[in-house]
Amino acid sequence: MSAPAEGCVQDAAQTSAVAYALHGDIAVATVNNPPVNALSLAVRSGLLAAIGRSLADPQVRALVIVGGGSTFVAGADINDFGKPYDEPTLYTIIDTLMASPKPVIAAIHGTAFGGGLELALACQWRIASPDAQIGQPEVKLGLMPGGGGTQWWPRMAGPAVALEVTTSGNPVAALQAHEWGVIDRIAEGTLLEDALAMAQDVVGGALPARDLTESTDRIRDIDPALFDDFRKKNARKWKGQLAPWKIVDCVEAACRLSFDEGFRLEKDAFSECERSYQSRSLIHLFFAERAAGKLPDVTAAPAPVATVGVVGAGTMGAGIAMSFANAGLRVTLLDSSDEALARGLKTITGNYATSVSRGSMPQARADAALACISATTNDAALADADLIVEAVFEDLAIKQSVFRRLDAVAKPGAILATNTSTLDVDAIAGVTSRPQSVLGLHFFSPANVMRLLEVVRGPRTGAATLATAMAVARKLRKIAVVSGNAYGFIGNRILAAYGREADFLLEEGATPWQIDRVLTEFGFPMGLFAMRDMAGLDVIWRIRQQENTTRPAHLRYSPIADRICEMGRFGQKTSRGYYLYDGRTPIPDPEIESLIVGVSAELGIARRDIPDAEILQRLLCAMANEGARLLDEGVALRAGDIDLVYVNGYGFPATRGGPMWWAREAGLASIRDAVAAYHRQHGDYWTPSPLLARAAAAGGDWDAAPSRGCAPAHTLPHPPTTTGSAQDA
Ligand code: NAI
Repeated sequence: MSAPAEGCVQDAAQTSAVAYALHGDIAVATVNNPPVNALSLAVRSGLLAAIGRSLADPQVRALVIVGGGSTFVAGADINDFGKPYDEPTLYTIIDTLMASPKPVIAAIHGTAFGGGLELALACQWRIASPDAQIGQPEVKLGLMPGGGGTQWWPRMAGPAVALEVTTSGNPVAALQAHEWGVIDRIAEGTLLEDALAMAQDVVGGALPARDLTESTDRIRDIDPALFDDFRKKNARKWKGQLAPWKIVDCVEAACRLSFDEGFRLEKDAFSECERSYQSRSLIHLFFAERAAGKLPDVTAAPAPVATVGVVGAGTMGAGIAMSFANAGLRVTLLDSSDEALARGLKTITGNYATSVSRGSMPQARADAALACISATTNDAALADADLIVEAVFEDLAIKQSVFRRLDAVAKPGAILATNTSTLDVDAIAGVTSRPQSVLGLHFFSPANVMRLLEVVRGPRTGAATLATAMAVARKLRKIAVVSGNAYGFIGNRILAAYGREADFLLEEGATPWQIDRVLTEFGFPMGLFAMRDMAGLDVIWRIRQQENTTRPAHLRYSPIADRICEMGRFGQKTSRGYYLYDGRTPIPDPEIESLIVGVSAELGIARRDIPDAEILQRLLCAMANEGARLLDEGVALRAGDIDLVYVNGYGFPATRGGPMWWAREAGLASIRDAVAAYHRQHGDYWTPSPLLARAAAAGGDWDAAPSRGCAPAHTLPHPPTTTGSAQDA
């Protein structure tokens, strides 16, 4: 794209970010800012200069703006959001383009997203390659179109399309955008040549001059119910967000106000979103996701993985097999009996049928994925597998015997992974002859849906094994977060800490429904006790019974969860748990309230009204303090990794950025002081993490006080959970 077309005159005085060339009486500005031609200051300056030159040159009759390399201007530089913008800003360029007496044509290939698209929308005409994509993805970062997107889209494509595109943030194919009227022409040959031909049509009058800011065809007489209905339809989805609400306001305004008035409103709304905690949080998670894949001490190249074995065709094994099959990998599913295999395969076919009937997967893709899965009861069928994931019962002896068998049949170099939630990965690796090829791959349920994958690095896990696992996770489109081999890894360890605190709050005066309401009002999709009821209370009860034999007597322990299980109430599966259930709807139960009140009396704890704010503060501080310990112990590598685990695996609201980000936003010094006060009041569990104190003293950022990093060299501690509740044990 950047190569000049034949017969063009190139200018020696071009800026490095934007080249300027003449093709007869048409000027071409080519943006060259690899890899994605982001709208950096150099690009903005270069574009403004190119527009100025084309206007000043009497020989030039029109200007074409095109991207060099693989794409048009893909968008703004995300690092720039929330900081002061240097001139020329995108606004200056848009104003100049809109005031230009000479026509400007945007020639789009690759992607034109966000500010990149708005640059094109401010041009009088747009031509695109048939495989190009456009879109306004700002909402995914808690932002909104800020360069006129909410004003152009309704004028070009109508308000219904505008609402969908700008609030979903999803990309739109150029062909679709052409049908809607946002792209004027689809290139049939070389994009630049077709763009030059289009420019000739414009200057020759074949395409008549037009001013879309004055066009009201698509925005006249719009029923206001369109916007109210759209708000109502999405109210649940947008809970806790700011940007989508602002977007709807601006699109609605576009149908009532002049372009200039609407654009002014959009500018104000954009800067409000840019200053919001929602956008800071979502941008933090964007960068955290990119950082999570990087392991500073692992330089080994990943080995190819084409064939996979999955051992255990239960809840997790079935979902794990689907994850691999969806990515086109061949999967052999093994269980100990034909009945168990048949059950697993029934789950898998049922899940695909549901996806197809809901329209979330085309039949052909479901068929192709199913064709990737074969089933066996014979270990020898795993001999070819590059990777084998074990998902049998959560029992060390059973898992060790499975790993001995796998070690005997797996080919040399094959990776053996365990999906354990609580067991010591090294104790599993230790029964094989290849501990360097063993690691944990902790999928979340449902494994074919949940994006999070904790990659557990045992003390003997080799660098190549880890590199391969990370590459496989990318293939599965999972967010892989590396965890050290410590009890509960990252996610369940924090769940245990804040679950314990929630249990203590019950004893002190709260009810399960008050705590759950506080959490859902904060943004969790479900409260902690409702979640326990959904997961099943009996599984963790059994684990607790084992752990209670070794629990130090001086540590506070809440018997409430055990008492509930002793009543045969195991949650949704028995229609009774912390709540009563009508179908899946939880109903507060006076019987549970009296049980809790009875326990408080037994323990001599005077119940009090606990304010919602105190409940929230105690639960979130417990998460952050435990997260800081994980960093200090080297179980987690970065604060951002912990946030990714919490947002993607445990329902922490993305708009709050995760527990570590929440603490940073609240001020680490204030969290340190709160934790110290809880420690004085409630004892040992609240021992402040040394990292929390260091980070607070070092300026209030976790990164300012480096942790030890993910420690591969020794086995990390495996403390008991006491009253904790492993989400999935
Ligand atoms: P499950 O009970 O649904 O399935 C276990 C399967 O393993 C059964 O089909 C069983 O027949 C098979 N199996 C047992 N012993 C076997 C052997 N020796 N050889 C071959 N197959 C054998 O259990 P689920 O829930 O799928 O859990 C499996 C593992 O995944 C456990 O380690 C659990 O802690 C872990 N996990 C569970 C999550 C959940 O939400 N259920 C989430 C994350 C991890």
